[in-house]
Amino acid sequence: MNIQKVTDKPGENAFFLVYTLLDTGTTVEKVKELCGNFAAFGRSMRGRYPEANVNCVMGFGADAWGRLFPDKPRPKELYPFREIRGDKHTAVSTPGDLFFHIRSKSAGVCFEIAENIDNALQGVVVSEDEVHGFRYFDGRSIIGFVDGTENPEGDESCKAAVIGDDDPMYKGGSYAFVQKYIHDMKAWNKLSVEEQEKVIGRRKFNDIELGDDEKPENAHNAVTNIADADGNELKIIRANMPFAYPSKGEYGTYFIGYAGAFSTTRRMLENMFVGDPIGNTDRLLDFSKAVTGTLFFVPTFDMLDELAED
Ligand code: HEM
Repeated sequence: MNIQKVTDKPGENAFFLVYTLLDTGTTVEKVKELCGNFAAFGRSMRGRYPEANVNCVMGFGADAWGRLFPDKPRPKELYPFREIRGDKHTAVSTPGDLFFHIRSKSAGVCFEIAENIDNALQGVVVSEDEVHGFRYFDGRSIIGFVDGTENPEGDESCKAAVIGDDDPMYKGGSYAFVQKYIHDMKAWNKLSVEEQEKVIGRRKFNDIELGDDEKPENAHNAVTNIADADGNELKIIRANMPFAYPSKGEYGTYFIGYAGAFSTTRRMLENMFVGDPIGNTDRLLDFSKAVTGTLFFVPTFDMLDELAED
């Protein structure tokens, strides 16, 4: 099975593209053509720039899936993302039919792939959102904390990010959930380092986890740490990237979580935005506002070929 590389590290540069489909006579044909060529885009760039760590992932929103492939049943957990509204914070739901996550050491290579994709879709899509993220020092989020530490590795990463036997038809696929967050850096920077550490649940300088006696119940890594009924931790793969436009005062995190079961990501979101118990919301949200939120299904490369021929 030729799985899209959803378990890779966040990388040095990442372009995130979200499109909606236009209703034209050639929409379905053009998207299917891209499905057939998509693996080759990455292959060609990897061949040309072997050192550039190229990785590109393509996903589909729920509405688009039904429109593009009416004969293929929907993957089990693919629905338009239902907004999560707590008393204090809201995880909004925003439109998106096609999604591309392009990673490379070289921003130029990311651009080249993004341009190829955009050319292939000319006339049949409109852009909903595009974010260019960068690696910040030793893998820090824009708020200064190392991001991605507790991601599972090796076999565990596939177990977390890739669909297994629960949905045999779509085995090897993944659910990508994306959210663009804007941070209130003025408020964040007013906190002392010790206070910031209590928000995240880790030390800022050396990334060591706070002990249970020090970690508040509303710390980010406390509310997102979840387990199944047998006490086994439930994990996803995160490949978040910081982005920033300092002269405009805009500082953000592009959150992306790949999961074999979207219900796992959703539970983390409910814990953050509503709280468990209700009201124990993620302290990080007092400094971070989600301005987008969209769910996509990422098929295997083999499925992409099949979808092209369908
Ligand atoms: C404002 C956006 C976000 C930022 C800046 C952020 C940042 C961080 C940081 C710095 C850590 C600690 C290091 C690590 O283990 O990676 C962390 C942990 C984590 N985050 Fe986030 N995060 C964000 C949003 C989210 C969202 C939306 C989810 C889930 C849907 C999530 C899930 C997790 C999980 C599962 C952990 C590991 C918890 C554990 O220690 O077991 N994060 N995040």
